[in-house]
Amino acid sequence: MLTPLDLPALAPDEAEHSERVAAAIGEAIREAGGWVPFSTFMRLALYAPGLGYYSAGARKFGPAGDFVTAPELTPLFARCLATQVAEVLGRCGGGEVLEVGAGSGALAADLLAALAGRGALPARYRILEVSGELRERQRATLSARVPELAARVEWLDAPPHSAWRGVLVGNEVLDALPVERFRVTREGFEAIGVVAGASGGFAFEPRPADPRLADRLKEIAGSLPAPLPAGFESEACLMLPAWIGSLAAGLSQGVMLFVDYGLPRAQYYHPARDGGTLCGFFRHRRIGDVLARPGLQDITAWVDFTAVAQAAAAAGLGVAGFATQAHFLLATGLERELQQAPAAGAAGGLARSQAVATLMLPGEMGERFKVIALARGVDGPLGGFAFRDLADRL
Ligand SMILES: C[S@@+](CC[C@H](N)C(=O)[O-])C[C@H]1O[C@@H](n2cnc3c(N)ncnc32)[C@H](O)[C@@H]1O
Repeated sequence: MLTPLDLPALAPDEAEHSERVAAAIGEAIREAGGWVPFSTFMRLALYAPGLGYYSAGARKFGPAGDFVTAPELTPLFARCLATQVAEVLGRCGGGEVLEVGAGSGALAADLLAALAGRGALPARYRILEVSGELRERQRATLSARVPELAARVEWLDAPPHSAWRGVLVGNEVLDALPVERFRVTREGFEAIGVVAGASGGFAFEPRPADPRLADRLKEIAGSLPAPLPAGFESEACLMLPAWIGSLAAGLSQGVMLFVDYGLPRAQYYHPARDGGTLCGFFRHRRIGDVLARPGLQDITAWVDFTAVAQAAAAAGLGVAGFATQAHFLLATGLERELQQAPAAGAAGGLARSQAVATLMLPGEMGERFKVIALARGVDGPLGGFAFRDLADRL
């Protein structure tokens, strides 16, 4: 973890923007009587209209931004995903693709191109995106990279209500959902919320957990192999069941594929992971202080994939596969895609090898990232999980 001294200084307009975001969060804290749950802080810091990290102009993705995601690294990721998407569309007898949280639009552009190359284009490619600023970037990326396919893309303000079939994809969106922070005490659980700091900024402050949080945490703790020790701190995403339920509601037949960093519950809440998984990202540095630089740094928490599976079950979907990203990419043809990739010259070849190493190595994205498939009305195993399916660990 780097000290603040190691971090690049903020430009004057960045500092000014962060002060505006902090003022909006400060106002919400005052209105709430001096304390808000961490999920409120995270929601405002990331998504407050016109202000939050995802809603305003922060660069976010790529070398000049704060973090790099798999689709930003190389189109090989999208081409492998296309293998799985095409298989599901084939089993559904056609259908649509719905991407949730499409970032810069890189995955949409490369996935559409790869599906076109396989003769498996979806009837429509819809994008559900909360950030108006990112919608504009997605539009620009699609017009520049796949102008002949851009007309197939539509943007949604809310999950589709009417019935549709096909594939939903979400890369690194689950980790961006606001979470609650909590601590285990001898008596039960505390919510670790946020207050205005004594000398400016924000600070964490615990309060007894409200019944909704306490009930969820009792349920989680009760399903673990060993009791959680007093002092254990972690996160839980209380909005996850309703969010998955809303996405699943219109899906009459198909698969939801989520890719993200996370763990099955027993590992997520392992006593050794007693500080939780929350962290910030700013200019490619991992930041421990998630309350700092509101609006300028990303805030994320790892995903409890058991919670994802349970939310899906409650919405009537079954787990059709759970694998590490490395195993999923091998099973969906990464080696074949590499062989078929156009010659890239010495520098391009090196960049491609580095990107593949980042996608695949256990210490990089290969093992930390998992792929989960949640299916309704799609029979039989899915090709992406043929190499190794870890669904029994959920
Ligand atoms: C970490 S970025 C990942 C972007 C992209 N999928 C990628 O891999 O590069 C998270 C994305 O999810 C979006 N997002 C966050 N919460 C969302 C929600 N509830 N519904 C739809 N999109 C959401 C953000 O605006 C952003 O586009």
